[in-house]
Amino acid sequence: MSRQEIRGTVRSTPRSLASPRVINIHDLRHLAQGRLPKVVFDYLDGGAESEVTLRENCRVFDDVTFRPRQAVAIPECDLRTRVLSADLAFPAILAPIGYSRLMHPGGEVAAAAAAEEAGLAYTLSTISGHKLENVRAASKGPVWYQLYLVGGREVAEGAIDRARRAGFSALVVTIDTPVAGMRERDPRNGMKELLGGSIFSKLPFLPQMFTHPRWLVSFLIDGGTPKLENIVIPGKGPMSLIDVTAALARAVVTWEDIRWLKRIWTGAIVVKGVLTADDAKRAVDEGAAAIVVSNHGGRQLDGAPATLRVLPEVVAAVNGQVEVLMDGGVRRGSDIVKAICLGARAVLLGRAYAFGLAAAGKAGVTRALEILRDDVERTLRLLGCPSVSALNSSYLNIPKHW
Ligand SMILES: Cc1cc2nc3c(=O)[nH]c(=O)nc-3n(C[C@H](O)[C@H](O)[C@H](O)COP(=O)(O)O)c2cc1C
Repeated sequence: MSRQEIRGTVRSTPRSLASPRVINIHDLRHLAQGRLPKVVFDYLDGGAESEVTLRENCRVFDDVTFRPRQAVAIPECDLRTRVLSADLAFPAILAPIGYSRLMHPGGEVAAAAAAEEAGLAYTLSTISGHKLENVRAASKGPVWYQLYLVGGREVAEGAIDRARRAGFSALVVTIDTPVAGMRERDPRNGMKELLGGSIFSKLPFLPQMFTHPRWLVSFLIDGGTPKLENIVIPGKGPMSLIDVTAALARAVVTWEDIRWLKRIWTGAIVVKGVLTADDAKRAVDEGAAAIVVSNHGGRQLDGAPATLRVLPEVVAAVNGQVEVLMDGGVRRGSDIVKAICLGARAVLLGRAYAFGLAAAGKAGVTRALEILRDDVERTLRLLGCPSVSALNSSYLNIPKHW
């Protein structure tokens, strides 16, 4: 009998998501690919230009190997972490994923609910199809709001005010999107035409919808293309769904914007998209409570370094003044453990949970988080380490040239 069975906390995983069909995140990716039309799957899966950074984010974890302490008994393994004064069941937070409602009707509401059940925090993207109040209501756990300046400061002020009243505890400001990266799969698949074009411009791209009837039916029952419920244009209402290139065309965030946000948002500000020691120090000076070492999952500047590779530089620069989080390429619990050993307080999960959402809604996110949690515990036990808080670089072989 497993420990979960003894405690009576067994969750019933649908057969389609249980072992042996789904053993790791890659299996969820495969299910997502089967359910989604190519345009939606590639939007989720793809990266910018040659996708070098996308691949490097994942590959670089292989450069770091473990130094286990053998013959150590660990009766209780403590996976808990505190991030911005919130307790997390293990060191992971769900990253903002735009257009989640296109992946599954449950979208952001389903992901937030699954995060709470797993004891984790959820970050809602500005590019979201569910109202932020409904997302907040779906979780009693910590929920953060990610801000893009789509529509300008006045529109952002409206969303920030709603987020404050709803009880979002942190504002995540993404600084790596002065324009959208060139995600080459999107124009090839007709992302722009399908989201906003005329019926004639859509025609060449429609067959992929009909070959994925399960997704198409759920999309139509959900009312078709959702509005961007949290980008409300004064006097006009929620913005219509537009493709990411159009959304980010005039949404650059500068350090001056961070100063303005500090004046209007009294909660924690998390600066997401830091890749150098200099920007990390700047974020600290501007009053960030935490930073996220991130290259946007390889979707913005192709050729940007893998995030795990720059994590030590940023951790050293910040010198404990603020919490350092990282994201990019995390697909296994052992990746999470490596990031913690290199100084991250926690990781943000991006595609790892979004593949689950796309495959099966909330149950898919739950399965993704369960896999990663179990991975983290197993890795700690195999390392001979009793708790996440005891992890450090002595558990790793780090390449000499790093
Ligand atoms: C489909 C998709 C949509 C995303 N949308 C946003 C977004 O709206 N805002 C944001 O700050 N980051 C966004 N990101 C970046 C993620 O928050 C995160 O940085 C990235 O996914 C981490 O890499 P990973 O997917 O390899 O884990 C998106 C990523 C993906 C894959």
